[in-house]
Amino acid sequence: MAAQINPSILSADFARLAEEARAVEGADWLHVDVMDNHFVPNLTLGVPVVEALARATDTPLDCHLMIEDADRWAPQYVEAGAGSVTFHAEAAAAPVRLAREIRAKGARASMALKPATPIEPYEDLLPELDMLLIMTVEPGFGGQAFLDIMLPKIRRTRELIGKHGLELWLQVDGGVSASTIERCAEAGADVFVAGSAVYGAADPAQAVRALRTQAEEATAQAAWACDH
Ligand code: DX5
Ligand code: ZN
Repeated sequence: MAAQINPSILSADFARLAEEARAVEGADWLHVDVMDNHFVPNLTLGVPVVEALARATDTPLDCHLMIEDADRWAPQYVEAGAGSVTFHAEAAAAPVRLAREIRAKGARASMALKPATPIEPYEDLLPELDMLLIMTVEPGFGGQAFLDIMLPKIRRTRELIGKHGLELWLQVDGGVSASTIERCAEAGADVFVAGSAVYGAADPAQAVRALRTQAEEATAQAAWACDH
């Protein structure tokens, strides 16, 4: 599968979201960070803004829910128009039931792990998911430094995907930029969220293309991709 680049609108101008979505046309998905000021110490946007954004752009929405009580709220983001909904493992009481509900409502189901949450306890759950998100910063804010200590977790997750023969996408989020994306791709990621690296660039659409090229070249060199 080709590398996918998902710009995070957390680094966009919230007063001009429709325009900011158009500025990255050509991106695979638009990454929408939902924060509730409880699961993370920051507050962003909710269902009404996702509904409005879904009407304003043809780029599918990748909603990353950094909220407590994900079991209760995540299905509403499918109804709001998200094509992919990511809940945090740490915030879901019944992740299998929730992933099935998200899929049944017609979206891709995805689960995220904070940096201190290991992948191993979730091995048997992976077939229930369409994507796994490995956070490469502590969730809550854009513009933080990439955590290199997450690379072994990315590698181990890629091994589990291969071991079980899964069609699971592996997303990384946090500090992904021209200087870190190749390490992520080499370790096994295939979906890349980039906030400040895209919206902080003079030409966001060009930044998306450049990141994709870097990721694809690194993937082509990577051992994990050799048998694909
Ligand atoms: C952080 C968010 C990220 C954020 C990434 O909690 O989940 O999606 O926008 O921003 P950068 O790419 O600037 O680290
Ligand atoms: Zn995010």
